[in-house]
Amino acid sequence: MTAPQPKRLADYTPYPFRVDQVALTFRLAPCATQVLARLDLTPQSPGADLRLDGEGLRLLALRLDGHALPPADYTLTETGLTIAARALPAAAFVLESEVEIDPAANTALEGLYMSGGMFCTQCEAEGFRHITFYPDRPDVMAPFRVRIESDLPVLLSNGNPVAQGTGWAEWHDPWPKPAYLFALVAGDLVALRDRFTTASGRSVDLAIWVRRGDEARCGFAMEALKRSMRWDEEAYGREYDLDVFNIVAVDDFNMGAMENKGLNIFNSKLVLASPETATDADYERIESVIAHEYFHNWTGNRITCRDWFQLCLKEGLTVYRDQQFTSDIRSAAVKRIEDVLALRARQFREDQGPLAHPVRPESYIEINNFYTATVYEKGAEVVGMLRRLVGDDGYRRALDLYFDRHDGQAATIEDWLTVFEHATGRDLTQFKRWYSEAGTPRLRVTEDWDGSRYTLTFTQETPPTPGQPVKTPRVIPIAVGLLGQNGDEVVPTRLLEMTEASQSFAFEGLAARPVPSILRGFSAPVVLERETTQAERAFLFAHDTDPFNRWEAGRSLARSALMAMVGGAAPDPDLIAAYGRVLADAPADPAFGALCLRLPSEDEIATALHAAGTPPDPAEIHGARARLTHAIATAHEGALQAVFAAMADPGPFSPDAAPAGRRALRMACLGLLNRLDNGARAERLCDAATTMTERLAALACLIEMNRAAGALARFRDGFAHDRLVMDKWFMVQVLHAAPDLAAETAAHLAALPDFDWKNPNRFRALMGGLAANHAGFHHASGAGYRFYADWLIRLDPINPQTTARMSTAFETWPRYDAHRQALMRAELGRISAQPGLSRDTGEMVARLLA
Ligand code: PHE
Ligand code: ZN
Repeated sequence: MTAPQPKRLADYTPYPFRVDQVALTFRLAPCATQVLARLDLTPQSPGADLRLDGEGLRLLALRLDGHALPPADYTLTETGLTIAARALPAAAFVLESEVEIDPAANTALEGLYMSGGMFCTQCEAEGFRHITFYPDRPDVMAPFRVRIESDLPVLLSNGNPVAQGTGWAEWHDPWPKPAYLFALVAGDLVALRDRFTTASGRSVDLAIWVRRGDEARCGFAMEALKRSMRWDEEAYGREYDLDVFNIVAVDDFNMGAMENKGLNIFNSKLVLASPETATDADYERIESVIAHEYFHNWTGNRITCRDWFQLCLKEGLTVYRDQQFTSDIRSAAVKRIEDVLALRARQFREDQGPLAHPVRPESYIEINNFYTATVYEKGAEVVGMLRRLVGDDGYRRALDLYFDRHDGQAATIEDWLTVFEHATGRDLTQFKRWYSEAGTPRLRVTEDWDGSRYTLTFTQETPPTPGQPVKTPRVIPIAVGLLGQNGDEVVPTRLLEMTEASQSFAFEGLAARPVPSILRGFSAPVVLERETTQAERAFLFAHDTDPFNRWEAGRSLARSALMAMVGGAAPDPDLIAAYGRVLADAPADPAFGALCLRLPSEDEIATALHAAGTPPDPAEIHGARARLTHAIATAHEGALQAVFAAMADPGPFSPDAAPAGRRALRMACLGLLNRLDNGARAERLCDAATTMTERLAALACLIEMNRAAGALARFRDGFAHDRLVMDKWFMVQVLHAAPDLAAETAAHLAALPDFDWKNPNRFRALMGGLAANHAGFHHASGAGYRFYADWLIRLDPINPQTTARMSTAFETWPRYDAHRQALMRAELGRISAQPGLSRDTGEMVARLLA
């Protein structure tokens, strides 16, 4: 096999045929499904060969306008079928193919596969080519008719149901769509049903399809769906456009969920929820992913991407929309902090390592490797910055124009930016660099006070990233407010627009030197570097009127205290005192208080140390964090006990933001008190808990105290038959294992019969738990690295996508000392040397080692 060649954005050419209609017939059978495809095609460019993608298909028949095509007129390769131009009519024609595929053998979970006895599909990005011969690219859009033949009782596809009988069903999707949005499901499923009436009066039948027995756990997802549908009407003027909306939950899924037109397919962990089985974090995530996939109906499906380089066009925008939705229905401040925590943990980390790439990449080998935090989360930040720059009204006008102008099209980032330019008159040439240049800008700020004028001077610099040694200045929206010495806001939030490498902004007529609150609400995805005193940060932590920056000040205080503690310092008494104030204020806003009590993660401390020029020592970091936890708990034991007691929920259970915030605060207190009572409280709670939030938090505490054996056994007895809960059982043990025990614990769990490693959720639970156990994964023995690499090697032939994705655990190797670097590189080398390594993992490992 020749080395796979990269695809390039610059090489885009339109497809030389139009697909006017697609009609598919599926004769389902686990090991031998027949797919009949009838394509109505019209040539768009005379003399072009007809090239169709197709992989792993057994061709049974091929007819052009009703006549079998002679083998001399086409060529068949491993990747597709080409019909010579000379064999094609000059005008519209019909191509029919019959192929056979083997869904039962499909462990890659791409194309048509089986999960728990049901047939299901996953076609994004390039899965449709595993189903039939087709131009599998997003700019080819067509209406689909689908006939499914099977004895299974529930047969679903995209669009509206047309007719059904015993053993068959027909569907029609009137909205032209690319093949990646195709979906089919067949199984013995039951539905939770509901109905939604759109703003203009269309009645939509809603159904969430699950395995028998799970229907009682769909209620929350259904409510979230209806809230999403209403919200998109109110916030964006977007209505639903079919008679039915179906969601199906499947247990085997490589990602979170998929926005197939009218038939969203979900990882079951993002649908099923009950108080006994789902944590508050699960509930919040279910709500946001249900919304995300629903919002794709307009941003992704009605308007799709011209090519996969434009992935952020749908993903960045849809993530931005689901973030808006959550902040509207929950707490905006808490949501922003959670999003920034995730952005820094995943996207900044990506941007600072060997996998850094622009929000719109310019080349790839395997597109599945570009469903990244950069495309999604940074893509959403870029939309947020656009909105800040053009204002709410400008944003609304631009989006209206976007929907008007591009409905039914496959669009580009250029189209997207042009609607903003046309709607607002703004030139976005420089702004576009956010899409083309990788790396996180560092924003340095200095200040000057001359007795009446206060000046902030910013300097921006973006470090080199792979393939992009030199960066140019970006447009950076910097939200700034100024506080007086007593904490009053003397200058309310104002948006500074930085466009130069270095730029000053003056504030006139101030009576006294103010305290600046910079980058409020995290107005741009940059690293803010500011020389400031601990006292000023403590002041902002106490007084900033911007909740994000108030939290941020506390976070940076804790971070620098921890960095000093890694170097041997004692806990900072001012920081300890500040936590006392946090505890006093917390009951008034529990979710926010819980966030303020949460210490920076070990990975975050490692990043900060590396940025400061010190290779991080994971064991030292782990120790420092434990010492600080202990010191805070000791200093505030009484207050912690009081808050822990006050936040107890008398029930009945509600997953809403307010009670979830109380539970979060209570569990934050538990985590601190745990060090003092040696797990006694956690032990009691673990058995008495009525919610999974409490039970799992208590279990983590017991594991950290190394007294969890009994609780783990009881947990297992109680939930042995619940796959989603057992995923948590696997995860929590590895995630919270002591550094010396992590690899060993993981190996012990991987040897259990219920470690069903071919199920991506189970694999991710165990291996993801190990990778997230910073001191365990990076243990100096290299045992964590070795175990992890062994399992990637084992999974790769079965499921390349998930393997490639999980190889990112190694992306931070350049941060560490020479010993660990050598260990990690050796494991990556071992993976890359595997014969027959998948293209997915091959590309990732090559980039990681470059
Ligand atoms: N498009 C999906 C989403 O973000 C993600 C996805 C990509 C799912 C590829 C499966 C495969 O909503
Ligand atoms: Zn998406």
